[in-house]
Amino acid sequence: MSETMPDDVAIESVLNERREFPPPAGFSDAIGGAHISSIEQYREMYDRSIRDPDGFWGEIAGELDWFEPWSTVLQWESPDAKWFVGGTTNLCHNCVDRQVANGYGDQVAIIWEGEPVEGGSPEVRRLTYADLARETARFGNVLKSLGVRKGDIVTLYMGMVPELAIAMLACARIGAVHSVIFGGFSARAIADRVQDADSRIVVTCDGGWRRGAVVPLKDNVDAAAAMTDRVKTVVVLKRCGNEVAWTLDRDHWWHDLVGGVSDDCPCEAMDSEDMLFLLYTSGSTGKPKGILHTTGGYMVYTYLTSKYVFNLVPDRGQVYWCTADIGWVTGHSYIIYGILPNRVPTLMYEGAPNFPADDRFWDIVERHKVTQFYTAPTAIRAFMKWGNEHPRKHDLSSLKLLGTVGEPINPEAWMWYHREIGSERCPIVDTWWQTETGGQLIMPLPGVTVTVPGSCTLPFFGVDAAVVNDHGEQLPVNVGGLLVIRKPWPAMLRGIHGDRQRFIETYFARVPGMYLTGDGARRDERGYFWIMGRIDDVINVAGHRLGTMEVESALVSHPAVVEAAVVGMPHEIKGTGIAAFVTLEKGHDPGDELRKDLLKHVTTEIGAIARPDMIRFTDALPKTRSGKIMRRLLRDIAAGTDSDQDTTTLEDFSVMARLREADDG
Ligand code: WT7
Repeated sequence: MSETMPDDVAIESVLNERREFPPPAGFSDAIGGAHISSIEQYREMYDRSIRDPDGFWGEIAGELDWFEPWSTVLQWESPDAKWFVGGTTNLCHNCVDRQVANGYGDQVAIIWEGEPVEGGSPEVRRLTYADLARETARFGNVLKSLGVRKGDIVTLYMGMVPELAIAMLACARIGAVHSVIFGGFSARAIADRVQDADSRIVVTCDGGWRRGAVVPLKDNVDAAAAMTDRVKTVVVLKRCGNEVAWTLDRDHWWHDLVGGVSDDCPCEAMDSEDMLFLLYTSGSTGKPKGILHTTGGYMVYTYLTSKYVFNLVPDRGQVYWCTADIGWVTGHSYIIYGILPNRVPTLMYEGAPNFPADDRFWDIVERHKVTQFYTAPTAIRAFMKWGNEHPRKHDLSSLKLLGTVGEPINPEAWMWYHREIGSERCPIVDTWWQTETGGQLIMPLPGVTVTVPGSCTLPFFGVDAAVVNDHGEQLPVNVGGLLVIRKPWPAMLRGIHGDRQRFIETYFARVPGMYLTGDGARRDERGYFWIMGRIDDVINVAGHRLGTMEVESALVSHPAVVEAAVVGMPHEIKGTGIAAFVTLEKGHDPGDELRKDLLKHVTTEIGAIARPDMIRFTDALPKTRSGKIMRRLLRDIAAGTDSDQDTTTLEDFSVMARLREADDG
């Protein structure tokens, strides 16, 4: 065990967590009827879903529209899963057209709130299912007119505007595959992803609003397009009205293209296993990988988790808000694809949680009467720091359910969320999942599961999660090990774009036949799961996943740097911060000037989310005699702790002494 687990000081404290929170009485009435009424019902349904996955998932899939029925629910030949084999459907149809066809065209599908402009009131747009049907049809026709065919990969690099949702759904409508790139990524990151996906078309905005400033999205696309020969077409939505450069024949304004286009664009019949989207995420090598998701299984799984985990019920005045950016998988699955088929309005916002003021979120909750609220622990820790007066200024009584996602939540933050935001009456669903899993896999069901601060509790239906050793043997209670999923689930990734070998090696090689999550975990005497952090060189910074090697490559590409080692370190708000140890070429001064330059360089290479929180210059890195960097020692130094680590394999002891004494910024 010791070799596979990162040192994590937080583990000790949560091991002693004894507080239990039974499902709040009155939850079912407050939310408009609970879908699942008791833990016994959960257990019964869970057992059946494991014993008879075909029966279980077949019934659920029947709640959505299919053009042609499937012949087989599941074909599994590890590592390849095929769900709803032979069935055809369309996800845009199930999100949008199906609601219109059933007579709900006038209901609100998306509530959007823009970043408030100085002194003005926030801009709000409400789009009905009929609006979405029309706009996705128009943009679908635009894409076709630009030469996009079924299976082509369309890159979307936009801010949080309704047109991003429209563009995604339009791709799904015509059978194109989207690859959304988070608006905080740099030109270099766009170029890498466009190149890897061989994507010929990029949809972007002139700019996006963030804290009163314009993020120059179009400029970044221009710079990316200069780094690769792939980009042939750029569609630009006007959002901020900022000045942009223009390349004739390549660049087109969104509004010009949709102007005269027909709104007749039928939803393409997609095979259940046709690709739906690619989403790049960090792994343990320097190169992000394109995680591949397909249509039918992803649709059914995100629909059902949304329904049960957030207890979505249409026509009961619910307003659901997930604060994530659509550039991450959380936004794909739990702002758009899982929520729209449930016919509950989904809110999306542009900007930041602390602009124009630290109460932005609570102001939105109050004005829109949000009922379900889903956010990240890093945001909760920031709210705690900003002070209780901000939520207390607002009427948060509309809230019925709270959720968290992205990283382990520390019990203090859980308690604060429960008390200050949930008034001790809202169940908290701590949802564990990954870009690769497509949907939430381990979480409490609201009003059903007894919750414990810091534990994501129990697996969802059909999810055979276990904590095992390298031989795939289940470990005893409270012994940490590898978190694996032993059976396929409908929303699981189908591959890494263009890299079959990496797909097999990363997820299915270490424990043959099981999906390796890359997380360490333990299971307590209740059977609850406790996530203990990553077992690979991936760090989770403010809920965003980064490869330490990715940051190292960025640092080493700076002319002054010879070698760099990056590790995670405890950080009050981000959970994990980034610590970089850097050795320099002769003739470069280790000082604040260079430190600033390196920070800027990493921002250009990857994006601001990858900026190290600490850079320490050193003349050597601690290495084993075989030349491997001893990261565990660096983690200790970065954390300022000095545990009794085994240093017998260390090649040069003096390196450690000098590192401990060094100063940093
Ligand atoms: C990694 C996946 C899931 C969408 C956002 C992140 C960590 C995620 C939890 C949680 C403890 C969590 C894991 C996982 N993680 N949710 N509730 N408790 N850890 O997706 O970027 O693919 O990152 O985030 O370490 O492996 P991602």
